[in-house]
Amino acid sequence: MRLDLSTWQEVEHYLDERDGIFLPTGSIEQHGPIGLIGTDSLCAQDIATGAGELIGAMVAPTIQYTPAPFNMSFPGTVSLSAETFGRVVDEVVDGLMHHGFRHIYVLNGHGANLEPLRNVLADRAECCRIKSWWDFAPVNVLRRKWYGDWEGMHATPSEVAITQARHRVVLHEMLDLPERLSAVYMAEHAGDRHGSAEEHRARFPDGRVGSHSSLATPEQGRELYETACQSVAEDFAQFVAGQTIS
Ligand code: NI
Repeated sequence: MRLDLSTWQEVEHYLDERDGIFLPTGSIEQHGPIGLIGTDSLCAQDIATGAGELIGAMVAPTIQYTPAPFNMSFPGTVSLSAETFGRVVDEVVDGLMHHGFRHIYVLNGHGANLEPLRNVLADRAECCRIKSWWDFAPVNVLRRKWYGDWEGMHATPSEVAITQARHRVVLHEMLDLPERLSAVYMAEHAGDRHGSAEEHRARFPDGRVGSHSSLATPEQGRELYETACQSVAEDFAQFVAGQTIS
């Protein structure tokens, strides 16, 4: 059930019975030679919509423009400052709460969104929940099984697989193995704490950050998508029921 495809009377009727809504957050940024610019937004939006269908929950329009300054040397990337993104999130949440939504489930698809999301929603913990689609154990079992360390950090085979299943497969020869990143590097750069745009493109010339995107297949993407939808739907249901959750 999409908010943007509903009438105001349908929203009013929904709010008579329920007060939960998904708010997907993604990015508009390069995702390597075979990843779509909208990968993060598409994954978050599709999984939120799929989870919403499983449990009859409404889904707000995806916030697609977000911070990705480190990718601005790659064509197609559009980056907001963390401050602007935070204000957009804050005012969107205000708007939803104004109408009576009391459980706003932010389903995230982009690492650099997490810090500004946590900052801006810190004092709304009881009404806002922040989760990324890769946070769930059943999803990670599949990621580890198929990709292991080649999941990497950016243009991951898992996110590419989901967009292949749902949108488009970019035809390309098998890509070379990317640089293998150390556990220390990944820990230090978690949440997309990368350097300047120039440094980032010089260090990772084709845009992949330790991720072997070519391992992705649409079949895996379908299984990842369905598994993520199920996990997210269960977590959403617990959140709106007010249960204690991790
Ligand atoms: Ni991504």
